[in-house]
Amino acid sequence: MYTKTMKVDPEKIDKIIIDSAAKIIKRGGLVAFPTETVYGLGADGMQKEAAAKIYEAKGRPSDNPLIIHIAKEEDVFHLAKEVSPTALKLIDVFWPGPLTLIFEKQKDVPNETTGGLSTVAVRCPSHPIARKLIKASGKFIAAPSANLSGKPSPTMAEHVIADLKGRVDMIIDGGSVSIGIESTVLDVTGEIPVILRPGFITKEMIEDVVGEVKIDPAIQGDLSLGMQPKAPGMKYRHYAPQGELTIVEGKDIELVAEEINSIAEVMLSQGKKVGIIATDESANLYRNGRVLSIGSREDDTTVAANLFRVLREFDSLGMEFIYSESFEDGKLGYAIMNRLLKAAGHRLIEVKGKDEVLEKNKIIFVCTTNSTRSYMAHIAMAQLLNNQNIEDVQVTSRGLIVLFEEPVNPKAQICLEAHGYEVKDHVTIQLTQEDIDAGCMILTMTEAEKNKVIEEYENVKRIYTIKEYANEQGEVLDPYGKEVVDYEYCLRELERLVEKTMIRLKGGK
Ligand code: TXA
Ligand code: MG
Repeated sequence: MYTKTMKVDPEKIDKIIIDSAAKIIKRGGLVAFPTETVYGLGADGMQKEAAAKIYEAKGRPSDNPLIIHIAKEEDVFHLAKEVSPTALKLIDVFWPGPLTLIFEKQKDVPNETTGGLSTVAVRCPSHPIARKLIKASGKFIAAPSANLSGKPSPTMAEHVIADLKGRVDMIIDGGSVSIGIESTVLDVTGEIPVILRPGFITKEMIEDVVGEVKIDPAIQGDLSLGMQPKAPGMKYRHYAPQGELTIVEGKDIELVAEEINSIAEVMLSQGKKVGIIATDESANLYRNGRVLSIGSREDDTTVAANLFRVLREFDSLGMEFIYSESFEDGKLGYAIMNRLLKAAGHRLIEVKGKDEVLEKNKIIFVCTTNSTRSYMAHIAMAQLLNNQNIEDVQVTSRGLIVLFEEPVNPKAQICLEAHGYEVKDHVTIQLTQEDIDAGCMILTMTEAEKNKVIEEYENVKRIYTIKEYANEQGEVLDPYGKEVVDYEYCLRELERLVEKTMIRLKGGK
């Protein structure tokens, strides 16, 4: 397919170009255009064949629904079955702008656009080019971010050209976008609004308008048992650069830079190409590797604005390993880390100063059912903490598939009691989104369990298999169905690993 690329100045919009783009939309074609958040890949949202073309061009799974963009706020009534007073307030305050609202859909919104859901996502963008294009086409424009599925979202026309040239009819080049991360997605179908994807409009901003707001309680439980996360896009790998990205986090930025410098030195000595994501304030702390500043910590809207561009720049520089500082403290920290963690596949190194090694720690041991391995690790760790009089660390355990409450496995109980542990009335507990907070560290028994947590829960930051944390290879497998002696072996191994966990927690290697 031949792709026309046309430059349009957002301050002085060329009507002829917009009209020709609108014509493409009307006849069911694809046009990429700038919005205030990221570039979108647009097509007529009410035409099912047009929606199908979007999925094909992006290489995106067709169960991942699209956002429909409107230019006039009142058009929401054509798409939503019902617009609650809460939704009306939000529309009044935040539209046009980077807030997407989820409603029950009207019948004539095609299932192809909504990924088969009975709900529809609606957004009224503020970018003048997006608004003119929607108006000129007379259509409602379905538009996901204009990147190939899995790549960082595009914040400049060059990114769209790199991903979609030859796959779409037209690309409107309106320069760099201003916000740089996608809109906040908010489900307003229930009593209390629920954030399904964090974005530029923060939880606090929404709460100021409508009171209580929740953060996605749906991304928990087991996909294979038929539960779907509410924003289906959240379950796929996202934003990944070609190089392997690792986040290095710590309170003391000089220690963080020191850690990155020493890792980079080793990598560079092995002939690897190393990129470093720094800030205006920290860039001069790095001694080697290719250093790019992502913005200023003084104003984290600059970090959001540059995030995807910097990831793509490291791709074009051919960087094989990328190390990034962490950005969770500012107003947009939640939204930025949501993307950065996904891009890093949750690879995270923590750097702690001597006096903060045991601070703010909640350890959650996780296995499949929480009846044996995670519970054994849990009480072994609890006893160790108790013996060493450490009170700052909390420890608990959870399971990934807990269909009903069960007591500890009887064979595990025999072994635990033989080792002198007091087995209280433990019942198995399912890991939920609420368990996951800023200070927690999750230790799983196997890689598969680790991946499942990363895929199904939001904003998991510190997660390792227990052997990985102890710098060992391999996994702790479930002795279920085997002899008592196998449970005994498992417990001894966990006791050993818990001791190593403790050493590393205290700052040892
Ligand atoms: O800022 C933005 O929102 C950009 C620009 C182009 O407007 N668009 C964007 O679209 O990011 P996309 O398709 O990359 O992401 C849409 C997100 C996905 O996570 C998707 O699963 C969710 O919104 N979504 C769409 N319809 C939904 C629905 N009916 N229910 C729940 N989530 C939905
Ligand atoms: Mg996207």
